[in-house]
Amino acid sequence: TEKIGTLVVLGATGDLTSRLLLPGLGRLLSEQPERRLRLIGADRAPRDGRQWTEVVREAFDGVGATGPAVEHTVAHADYLVTDASSGEDLEQVLASTTGIPAVYFALPPAVTSRAIGALHRITIPDGTVLALEKPFGVDQASAAQLNRRLTALVGEDRVFRVDHFLGKSTVLNILGLRFTNYLFEPLLNRDHVAKVEVVYDEALGLENRAGYYDRAGALVDMIQSHLLQVMALVTMDAPLSVHATELRAAKAEALRAVRPYAGDAVAAGRRARYTAGSIGGRDLPSYAEEHGVDPDRETETLAEVTLESTTWRWAGVPFVLRSGKALGAARREIAITFRQVPHLPVGLDGVPAPTVLRICLGPDRMVLELNVNGSGDPFVLDRGRLTAEFGAGRLNPYGEVLHGLLDRDPSLSIGGEAAEHCWRIIDQIRAAWQAGQVPLEEYPAGSTGPEHWASTG
Ligand code: BG6
Repeated sequence: TEKIGTLVVLGATGDLTSRLLLPGLGRLLSEQPERRLRLIGADRAPRDGRQWTEVVREAFDGVGATGPAVEHTVAHADYLVTDASSGEDLEQVLASTTGIPAVYFALPPAVTSRAIGALHRITIPDGTVLALEKPFGVDQASAAQLNRRLTALVGEDRVFRVDHFLGKSTVLNILGLRFTNYLFEPLLNRDHVAKVEVVYDEALGLENRAGYYDRAGALVDMIQSHLLQVMALVTMDAPLSVHATELRAAKAEALRAVRPYAGDAVAAGRRARYTAGSIGGRDLPSYAEEHGVDPDRETETLAEVTLESTTWRWAGVPFVLRSGKALGAARREIAITFRQVPHLPVGLDGVPAPTVLRICLGPDRMVLELNVNGSGDPFVLDRGRLTAEFGAGRLNPYGEVLHGLLDRDPSLSIGGEAAEHCWRIIDQIRAAWQAGQVPLEEYPAGSTGPEHWASTG
């Protein structure tokens, strides 16, 4: 397939572009000196080409990006003042592209929706690729509608629903770990696994993102997108290949089987928000008092849901997905807890803890926790750990995402069906929360969550 000739970033002056897209692009271009890519920034803010070039240069310098591909992109960077909801403006932007264009919507969902409407009113160049950020829609119905509108513009294989977790090297490692070793795969099922946790606890607070976060909350911000993608990779059956069509199909199938545990959307979830506290010597105000937050919206900053995969392989195994902000212990991992041994031979002393396989997302490593004979009294059990460091990937997550996009390989992006299922699962739980069926609890910033939530792990 022909590579992308021009990357158009709609929302070029936004936070996502400078914080994530440009640094990711810089890393990619450094790794691929032969690539020739034009970069067009488009936004409403009145900037000129020179100012945009400076922004691009600064972001590239920030990640130490160098080489001929970097220089080419900087030298050919362009900026067009653009109202993304105007067909005329978008036509003008697309007319100035060379080669196959990729249009990246680094915009809030409502503006993205208007921009797609505008693209419907004009003729877009053949082969145009569209890349959309999360959140993809705001619920199942809007995601389905968005899918219809996008595929009416371009084919499904040219729609990239971006999820940067799919570009994390350790998330990618799940495929290699599961499908190239005989050791784990035969054990990953209800006969041997007691529980799976996918946890992404962050020390970060709101980071000036109230405008977005206060309407999203932890459930939508992290679980609806990233953590369900991880769950799909852990539960899916072995695909025939890791090419986009098969991988997307295997993941969609996996997500189709997911529902709140025991079908109970009320019991399946817990939610909380942080009160004032301190993390690593830094004082944080309570979430409700953060600038730009509407406390009456009752947005949760910590969400935990227990799901199940209703398949022969997984039925009955709880999958606990959890993520929160302003937490003291930044636990970020997939923890697979195996069942207890059926019988402890008489004479071995101690209570054997279950075997746990931890796939850690930062630092990127895998740890297998086992019971072994003690180093002291050989008949008293001890805990042993087998650790493998994964090392950082060659690119950062956005670099990987852009690599797939610019090579027109959708393997690392979310398929349309999967995107709808992620909302279906979350919509049920969110409805119970909005109806007040699940209390909004509290935890001090810097703690591990509400006191009575048994922090396993
Ligand atoms: C983003 C969320 O998608 O992922 C943020 O919007 C979150 O709230 C971030 O902090 C976590 O991912 P990473 O890769 O930055 O740790």
